[in-house]
Amino acid sequence: MFDLETIVRPNVWKMKAYASARDEFKGTASVYLDANENNLGSLAGDNYNRYPDPHQKALKSKIAAIKGVRPSQIFLGNGSDEAIDLLFRMVCRPGQDRMLHLPPTYGMYEVSANLNDVQLDAVQLTPDFQLPVAEVLRNVKNTTKIIFICSPNNPTGNSINPESIEAILDNFDGLVVLDEAYIDFSDSPSWITRLPDFPNLVVLQTFSKAWGMAGLRLGMAFASEEIIALLDKIKPPYNINEATQELALKALEQDEQLKYMVEEIVQERQMLEAALPTMAIVEKVYPSDANFLLVKVKDANRLYSYLLDKGIVTRNRSSVPGCENCLRISVGTTEENQQLYQAMSEFKI
Ligand SMILES: Cc1ncc(COP(=O)(O)O)c(C=O)c1O
Repeated sequence: MFDLETIVRPNVWKMKAYASARDEFKGTASVYLDANENNLGSLAGDNYNRYPDPHQKALKSKIAAIKGVRPSQIFLGNGSDEAIDLLFRMVCRPGQDRMLHLPPTYGMYEVSANLNDVQLDAVQLTPDFQLPVAEVLRNVKNTTKIIFICSPNNPTGNSINPESIEAILDNFDGLVVLDEAYIDFSDSPSWITRLPDFPNLVVLQTFSKAWGMAGLRLGMAFASEEIIALLDKIKPPYNINEATQELALKALEQDEQLKYMVEEIVQERQMLEAALPTMAIVEKVYPSDANFLLVKVKDANRLYSYLLDKGIVTRNRSSVPGCENCLRISVGTTEENQQLYQAMSEFKI
């Protein structure tokens, strides 16, 4: 049985959050002398001399309406990387607790675990990059606090079978963190709709991919109100800056444009998925539900350097176990994808 209090670090459970000036005074006044701001103004522009809303109320209410959850089920982070780090700090006692992840996968789970002195258990995905449920459950120890599952997975691009994810949620009493950074490019529904069924589920999403806002750093975690309250308690008070909050609010008005960009990227991905396998250098293009393709080639190191000489930079994943001789190629604009295609078709094996 999942019980939040038994998995949260005792110091986190007991501690009080920082109370900001804006927490202590919530009304409106004509003179603000409570936050040691610069009341003469800001060199960066209107408003920026004031601290941002630490609770991001306007942004959360808009996201809640779009995602079909309550604002109290949303945590906003300085990128989803911040949410990953805070999840470790929320439940894993340094030097004692463990996490499990499924390589080849996103590298920050491991980096964040190492930073927080959390022991790492790795269970390799199957050769077709699916989740080996029995092996995962066999590797769970009584100090395992988090299992990270990335779907669609980076760098492989595929979605993980929902039945496997459900089996982990049903049989593991710690947090199951499901990273859906690429969900907007997939036809599969988000697991956000299943939050009421699983008190141990945390879904991560981001504005860095489909929304095109990687430079602003805005990530989301969706979970039960109790989990979100704990994340809010331990976050730095002003973790989402004013410019990001303003610009994200504007972006959220443009859902038609989002749809258009996603359709365009998926179409371009499908074009590359069809074109690349016809090339002699290409051995396999893995199925993708994301905005990139994992491509197995005859000699990834040579192709990588060749493309770089042509001014095209891809991600060489050859050294990652399970991705030998693979390049991860992001879907670009039509022109960029044509350049890639042209360059690859001129490559001499
Ligand atoms: C699977 C996955 N999760 C999270 C992130 C990081 O997202 P953010 O920019 O919100 O920190 C990435 C970025 O590449 C990713 O691939």
